Amino acid sequence: MKKNKAIVCRCEDITEEDVINAIDEGYVDLEELRKKLRIGMGPCQGRVCIQLVTKILEGETGKKVPKKSQPTSRPPIVPVSLGTLASDGK
Ligand code: FES
Repeated sequence: MKKNKAIVCRCEDITEEDVINAIDEGYVDLEELRKKLRIGMGPCQGRVCIQLVTKILEGETGKKVPKKSQPTSRPPIVPVSLGTLASDGK
């Protein structure tokens, strides 16, 4: 796959090239990629980037990533500011 500078994870500022370089280094598991690049650990919790990274990983390795190995979103579903959490509901 051709490497490029397209952003795949906006929250952590990770490009497609970063993902492909990590795969080339041997990070060929979605969980390993998450831990190395912090993909899916930003405020959106990977709602967009996990699908993109999964597609890149499948394209690079030629293997299907099992659905059960893909992380799921956990509440809160939308990002909540610390100010809102600290406001005690007022
Ligand atoms: S875009 Fe990747 S964690 Fe938000």
